[in-house]
Amino acid sequence: MDRKLNIVIMGGGGILDQHAPGFERMSDFCEVKAVAEPDESRHERIRSLLKNPKLPIYENYEKLYELEDIDAVDIILPHHLHMDATIKAAQKGWHVLTEKVMARNTWECDRMIEACNAAGVRLVVCHDRRYAGHWVALKKVIESGVLGRILFWKLEHNQDVIFPPNAWVRHKDMIGGGAIMSCLTHQIDALRWMGGEIEQVNCMTVTEPGRMEGECIGLIGAQMQSGSIAQLSINWYTQSNGPPGFPLWYEFIHVTGTEGEAYFMAGFENGTFVKPRTPREKDETYSNDNVSFTFKAGEQGFFKVDHKHIDSGHVKCIEEFVKAARGEEALILTPGSDTVKTVEVAEAAYIAQVKNCNVSLPLKDRVRWEDRPY
Ligand SMILES: NC(=O)c1ccc[n+]([C@@H]2O[C@H](COP(=O)([O-])OP(=O)(O)OC[C@H]3O[C@@H](n4cnc5c(N)ncnc54)[C@H](O)[C@@H]3O)[C@@H](O)[C@H]2O)c1
Repeated sequence: MDRKLNIVIMGGGGILDQHAPGFERMSDFCEVKAVAEPDESRHERIRSLLKNPKLPIYENYEKLYELEDIDAVDIILPHHLHMDATIKAAQKGWHVLTEKVMARNTWECDRMIEACNAAGVRLVVCHDRRYAGHWVALKKVIESGVLGRILFWKLEHNQDVIFPPNAWVRHKDMIGGGAIMSCLTHQIDALRWMGGEIEQVNCMTVTEPGRMEGECIGLIGAQMQSGSIAQLSINWYTQSNGPPGFPLWYEFIHVTGTEGEAYFMAGFENGTFVKPRTPREKDETYSNDNVSFTFKAGEQGFFKVDHKHIDSGHVKCIEEFVKAARGEEALILTPGSDTVKTVEVAEAAYIAQVKNCNVSLPLKDRVRWEDRPY
């Protein structure tokens, strides 16, 4: 492409803070032409984040389809709008980047994939963790083989999520269930990325109606195709990301293998760490794709993993999406065709919860949101 990629953004809420630096980084290659955001109190912030005081802002994402010469869209809307916004964008021939979660269930994801395939445009889901430095570092540790055969995964997502009374996130129909579909999908996606596909799941949830209609706490037990098992939990009722001085952790992954273990922690002691089961007799350094760590001779503690990757997964994902939409070589780790499987695991967990049983993947029935059994 011998000009800048013209892009529009649908929605100008909280997550724009993370997306705007991505567009700034790629400003030689793309230009944000317009935004849609009905809440006028957010307009000044949007123009300021995108560093364009004259940026046109429309009251509804539908209005953006009337614009000419647009190449791509960044969808950061509530989840119940992701499918509609994607299908219409594809029909305009626009490449699509959509925030996680891809959509409310697999049926909706399938329609998005179909529409983008039919139009010959890219469909990328901003599951930002796959692009973020410390998460990449953990994946490289596992790929190095130093942990041996992986036996157990523990993945946690902790947050104190309190929404205003009218927030879309409080409504099951808008968020697509509750905290599991909305945010534990970060952990499900990371698990699939690092550990391969999931064979079956069970699930328990806690609902606290003062917070939201759907669950605000959820626990998934997963059997992996590899033979290992995983425990994934989301807790939107903890203050562990709370006041300074009391940081427990916010997101945490612990991987146990036959030869060692590793963890990633965001919040307290931010970073990725690895420990051999048996101390080494001499220093051993592992290095792969800008990720490195050294097992120091005679020491058996956890060693910090160094990496040279960008720590903001959003920025990196936007960089790769812009390259892909321009027809350039790009590292797309989260195409819709893959990310639908993350939604499928969360959907299977909801079915397991209401049926009180294990549910095997892949799911046999993919049904409209209105016809779901949970
Ligand atoms: N990757 C992450 O870590 C992360 C974190 C937070 C949110 N997200 C995702 O980002 C997306 C948006 O979440 P958010 O936290 O920014 O929510 P938000 O509520 O802050 O923002 C959503 C915005 O969409 C606007 N909107 C609603 N209907 C619209 C319409 N018809 N046309 C145009 N705009 C409309 C709302 O007014 C609101 O400002 C969701 O998919 C969410 O899951 C991702």
